[in-house]
Amino acid sequence: MTVMVSTARQYLPELNGSPNQQILPLTATVNDRDGLEIGGCAVTDLVQKFGSPLYILDEDTLRAACREYQQAWQKYYNGSSLPIYASKAWNCLAICHMVIAEGMGIDVVSEGELRTALQAGAQPDRIYFHGNNKSRAELELAIAEGCNIVVDNWLEIETLAELAVKVVRPVPVMLRLTPGIECHTHEYIRTGHLDSKFGFDPTRIEELFKYLVTKPHLHCLGVHAHIGSQIFEQQPHQDLAEVMVGWFTKAQSFGLNISEINVGGGLGVKYTELDDPQSIDTWVQGVATALNQACAAAQIEPPKVISEPGRSLIANACVTAYQVGSSKEVPGIRKYIAVDGGMSDNPRPITYQSLYRCLLANKMSAPCTETITVAGKHCESGDVLIKDASLPATAAGDILVVPVTGAYNYSMASNYNRITRPAAVLVQDGSAEIMIDRETWQDLLRFDRLPARLQQ
Ligand code: LLP
Repeated sequence: MTVMVSTARQYLPELNGSPNQQILPLTATVNDRDGLEIGGCAVTDLVQKFGSPLYILDEDTLRAACREYQQAWQKYYNGSSLPIYASKAWNCLAICHMVIAEGMGIDVVSEGELRTALQAGAQPDRIYFHGNNKSRAELELAIAEGCNIVVDNWLEIETLAELAVKVVRPVPVMLRLTPGIECHTHEYIRTGHLDSKFGFDPTRIEELFKYLVTKPHLHCLGVHAHIGSQIFEQQPHQDLAEVMVGWFTKAQSFGLNISEINVGGGLGVKYTELDDPQSIDTWVQGVATALNQACAAAQIEPPKVISEPGRSLIANACVTAYQVGSSKEVPGIRKYIAVDGGMSDNPRPITYQSLYRCLLANKMSAPCTETITVAGKHCESGDVLIKDASLPATAAGDILVVPVTGAYNYSMASNYNRITRPAAVLVQDGSAEIMIDRETWQDLLRFDRLPARLQQ
């Protein structure tokens, strides 16, 4: 859809609202050179210093989102709470370090994510290890480190029961169940409906609880469900709250010493003006109220609640800056410009047909008079970041910024076409520091070996 934008200033953040409701990070401003600044740093200066493409992560925006989640749970929920960061959105040392420092826990899904969280200083009892096919080695590692394990299926629970016998403390496990709740989001990122590869079938819940009662080496901490991602409606999570309290009381009736409910993640974010997500505060209020009511109706003390935001914590804290290169006009059809990155640093448009907006960091007040399609540099016709973007007259050398690239961009980035992954910088109060180095061509070659017979 073509949307005419007056100038890029229209993307500047509004004073009210959560980070997930802003297209640009909270600290975005325009300086006296008509340039975009984030965290007090001019984007064009950052590109000059660190190169392009460049992920620019705004520390204040990330921390503000962490605080809003925690404060909202404390305000609205009648029991204790722990928001944990779904680090699949972007797992690296610096980000894990910041969310831990903000008092959050971490959700990890692999040995790599787990080891990064541990190295960043996460307390093992605040790490929740997810995954529908964890390896035996991963389970052994999680047990040895003392992490909570979110069990997904029968093979896993049987493996855990076997491994748990060998350790002194009971192994803390959460049960992931598929709640059968539909929500309107892209098919690939919907997980709560019954036909999903994740979680136990809730119709077998009694069997599961009976099994756990016979396994004293496993400590059933609680129940978990995640219904999907980029969700704008309130109702699905409120329905979920009720369903989960039902599972919780059922576990109690089997004599299990259960104490936690994990409602997953899923709150949507604003990528373009077409998206209208709830604020973090409103989302938490809705889920907390539904949980409070369901607990009151079931006459139980509200258990500890875990929520697992990924996208809504980090997506809007980051932008990607590119340098504009070649252009091409197909008369009467379309004008293209190409940037120095594309589907390797942002695979979401080609994977999910996700929409993004863009702006020129060096022309914030210039009227957007042109409709231009922003292509990447990969050898693939579908490598288009934004179709029919509204931009000012654009020339080679301009710095094009795509906002809302903090979630599932770096973490899903690839080296397609042997293109190196960009660097990421962390900005705050006028200082910018590297948080992930830019890959080099030497990095790309480091796993390559020439078999001896090819060398003769
Ligand atoms: N908890 C579990 C068990 C999850 O599977 C996920 C996301 C989350 C929490 C965090 O959900 P969020 O708050 O970020 O919506 N690559 C896709 C998104 C995949 C989501 C996977 N699971 C994308 O780029 O849109």
